[in-house]
Amino acid sequence: MTSNLFHPHGTASDKTLQRCVRLSRQGRGLVPVAGLSPLPEPGPHEVLICIEATSLNYRDLLIAWGRYGGVEEGRIPLSDCAGVVLALGSQVSEWQKGDRVMPGFFKDWLSGPFKPAYGPSASGGESEGVLARTVVMPASALVRVPDYLDGQSAATLPCAAVTAWQALFERARPLKAGDTLLVQGTGGVALFALQLGLAQGARVIVLSSSDAKLERARAMGAWGLINYRDVAEWDTEVLRLTEGEGVQHILELGGAQTFQRSLNCLAYGGQIAQIGLLSGSFARPDLGRLQRLNATLEGIAVGSVQHLQHLVRYLETHRIEPVIDRVFHLDEVEQAYAYLASGQHFGKVVIRV
Ligand SMILES: NC(=O)c1ccc[n+]([C@@H]2O[C@H](COP(=O)([O-])OP(=O)(O)OC[C@H]3O[C@@H](n4cnc5c(N)ncnc54)[C@H](OP(=O)(O)O)[C@@H]3O)[C@@H](O)[C@H]2O)c1
Repeated sequence: MTSNLFHPHGTASDKTLQRCVRLSRQGRGLVPVAGLSPLPEPGPHEVLICIEATSLNYRDLLIAWGRYGGVEEGRIPLSDCAGVVLALGSQVSEWQKGDRVMPGFFKDWLSGPFKPAYGPSASGGESEGVLARTVVMPASALVRVPDYLDGQSAATLPCAAVTAWQALFERARPLKAGDTLLVQGTGGVALFALQLGLAQGARVIVLSSSDAKLERARAMGAWGLINYRDVAEWDTEVLRLTEGEGVQHILELGGAQTFQRSLNCLAYGGQIAQIGLLSGSFARPDLGRLQRLNATLEGIAVGSVQHLQHLVRYLETHRIEPVIDRVFHLDEVEQAYAYLASGQHFGKVVIRV
């Protein structure tokens, strides 16, 4: 059904079709190619959105590399976007044409704890993604874009920012002023955590493979800077910086090769939010240490629509501007993927539609 809609130039002369990007099989992976899709029409409880911008997450690379199950050839990729309401389903009363909105990462996870049934509703994975001129979304999955943010900035929020938000503020041990927070790397999740941590009055230690990126993190307000390429035993350095106390909060993005070090430099009563598996998923951590520390380990799956609403309120109060590294055009989608995969980015990579 979808393959006959592939179009190399992505121009839609037929008014019932629109430009989009689809994933096309290449070897064991999937590559983004220009395509066409039928112009969607909103059902009774849905909203048609004209997409202004989308943003890339590491998940989109995992999907392209064939390391994320359940994604078929022909799928429209990406989960994150922001745009303007174009049309409303007959039963929608909470939105109006012209409203600026963004969808939650899981269309079906509105609030409360995560349930496995919500998983397939994540856009760009098992369900259709947002890299198209327009998309249809359930009205209940949408959140208002704050006035002070443009569409490109808003498009960075649904996955990376909500993940950092949930990890820091919505689980067992919310981040407090005076806490020390450790973030790994300088990608999307990490820099949102840095900004949220600073706004909350925390001291933030940033790990990065690049001194130049660490300097940029310092300019943003980071308190501790460690190059994890040069300082393999960065856990010891974190303990030195904190005079042996360790840190109260860690956003664990590295996975297999970083988890034990995170545990080594966690403070008593601290929390590790398990978020990323950049260096693999199987670790053999010292469970005795977790126990002795009276520590909390929280697994994070992005967040709900309500988490996105809470995040937006906090961002608005603190006037936090997402850090966008580069903006690509829809015609440059392959370059955008390649740029994220190169690891050169500091913050978010955006695709303007
Ligand atoms: N569980 C969830 O809900 C959830 C949600 C979002 C993301 N994630 C996961 O979180 C991770 C980050 O996602 P993202 O979208 O923020 O990625 P991203 O923007 O591509 O950032 C990745 C950054 O991580 C750093 N990094 C790589 N290997 C590292 C290591 N061994 N130790 C410390 N830092 C390392 C690098 O920073 P430097 O260049 O500074 O070294 C790299 O730029 C990914 O594993 C992703 O799958 C999970």
